[in-house]
Amino acid sequence: MNQPKQYAAPAYVKHARLIAWVNEVAALTEPEAIVWCDGTLQESDKLCELMIAGGSMVKLDPAKRKNSYLVQSDPSDVARVEDRTFVCTPDPEEAGPNNNWEHPDKMKETLRGLFKGCMRGRTMYVVPFSMGPIGSPIAHIGVELSDSPYVVINMRIMTRMGRAVLDQLGSDGIFVPCLHSVGHPLEAGQKDVKWPCNKTKYICHFPETREIWSFGSGYGGNALLGKKCFALRIASTMARDEGWLAEHMLILGVESPQGEKSYVAAAFPSACGKTNFAMLIPPQSMGGWKVTTVGDDIAWIKPGKDGRLYAINPEAGFFGVAPGTSEKTNFNAMATLKENIIFTNVALTDDGDVWWEGMSKEPPAHCIDWQGQDWTPAIAKETGRKAAHPNSRFTAPASQCPSIDKDWENPAGVPISAFIFGGRRSTTVPLVFEAFNWNYGVYMAATLGSETTAAAVGAQGVVRRDPFAMLPFCGYHMGDYFNHWLRIGHQVEHAPRIFTVNWFRQDAQGNFMWPGFGENMRVLKWIVGRCGGKADARQSALGWMPRFEDLDWSGSEDVTKEQFDQLTTIDTDAWREELKLHAEWFDKLKSRLPRSLTLKRELFELAMVD
Ligand code: OXD
Ligand code: MN
Repeated sequence: MNQPKQYAAPAYVKHARLIAWVNEVAALTEPEAIVWCDGTLQESDKLCELMIAGGSMVKLDPAKRKNSYLVQSDPSDVARVEDRTFVCTPDPEEAGPNNNWEHPDKMKETLRGLFKGCMRGRTMYVVPFSMGPIGSPIAHIGVELSDSPYVVINMRIMTRMGRAVLDQLGSDGIFVPCLHSVGHPLEAGQKDVKWPCNKTKYICHFPETREIWSFGSGYGGNALLGKKCFALRIASTMARDEGWLAEHMLILGVESPQGEKSYVAAAFPSACGKTNFAMLIPPQSMGGWKVTTVGDDIAWIKPGKDGRLYAINPEAGFFGVAPGTSEKTNFNAMATLKENIIFTNVALTDDGDVWWEGMSKEPPAHCIDWQGQDWTPAIAKETGRKAAHPNSRFTAPASQCPSIDKDWENPAGVPISAFIFGGRRSTTVPLVFEAFNWNYGVYMAATLGSETTAAAVGAQGVVRRDPFAMLPFCGYHMGDYFNHWLRIGHQVEHAPRIFTVNWFRQDAQGNFMWPGFGENMRVLKWIVGRCGGKADARQSALGWMPRFEDLDWSGSEDVTKEQFDQLTTIDTDAWREELKLHAEWFDKLKSRLPRSLTLKRELFELAMVD
């Protein structure tokens, strides 16, 4: 049996339990060496050199993009594997019908078998990280042990990572242990592959002991364990137990020309434009409104002493989908991507830069696609092959975003005035409405639906329930989660208002009726106006809705009053059908569904009688 060459922790590590855990994992996984990561640029540069030498990374031309790299993964390891993701609780009821379940003892036995010797021939990196500004009362610490240098360099961008976190932990601070292996040991003399991974994959969460074990994938959310695994699945159970919220939400600031500032948090399922909304640039014609970005994916929200809810972005970077991102659709994202970026599964251009579908109108005449093959527009036309994988990503430091909010790292968080929930719905759901009260808002979020897109496997355009945009990320029974939301709203004195939006409604010919992007500012202005008592509305069966004259249309020629009426119409037949689908959805959760939500459904049914 190979013995790890180095077991001793550096002298500055004072945390006996952490050292003991690292040694325990090393004894199980048998790495060649152990490296305690300090989070410096030098360390990251060294790992990039290692990956370049091994052929798994390309450095981009610094004249095009300084200090930036491209990695192309194995074609079998390109996305989160929801069917291999487990929540392990003693009682399956705890995990709920929204999670795959296994008993913790049984799963640990399986995992110990898989992790036995799985790091042979590799280095095990110890990656201490803080989700949220180090020392913030809203932040929490994790330590990831991983045999992937790709994970280390991404974690350095996506979290606050390195020695400062160990200093914060001290000798007995609390951390979430996150164990990760690509599951591809190397025997003596065996040559490594470009993207090591394993056909067998397990992404496992143990909420009771607050642990994460991930095996077999090196990709994004499966491997960067601070993100979906910790900041959503484990954190949602911590939040339930401790009275706060861990949500799949962007956070943005809205500033009026008079300098009044509000913050909103918004949940949208995948492929519904969350990053674009977080970095929105308001139309100039609206006269000096500003939008600033706090986060684009996850919000941790805790009650403040003043009775308001305060949110932080627990991440330090953006792990954004590249295709479709352009100067037109998201100018701020493109400006963020100029330097210090890791690209994954996009195409490499002949001049040493990157390209993806939708980045420019004119594709390059030739590039190397995400699978390392020649790609030209003619090849694409003939074969349908994409230059970039539809789920290709950029990993970018949030600090580089031109719209980053001045308080994005404020340890106290930012006060939230409104929650916004939105899905992709070609019919039925109006452009925007405000819930009558907290419980109505929770009902709307609990029944949030979105049409499946080409990004997901399976039929397209089918409405799927994705409550609070949390279906793949809630670490416990969804019925209990709804109850938790109901409780929080009643605990805080100044609960945010709750809004539903739909940017994707279509006319009878299948054309989008709402222009979206920067024009969403008109809706956002109405939302913050409602929160500040400055915007009017009419009462509808669903909630409070703007009349045409309640939105600011200055400089807009896109939407007529007729179109607006169509965008905000409530089709009672469609809603009666919709409410039947809500009933089907609730039926799946019935053992733990809050009664007030079934009552709300009945009230909506009554309201839809013509
Ligand atoms: C993400 C996701 O990567 O939601 O943010 O899948
Ligand atoms: Mn997400």
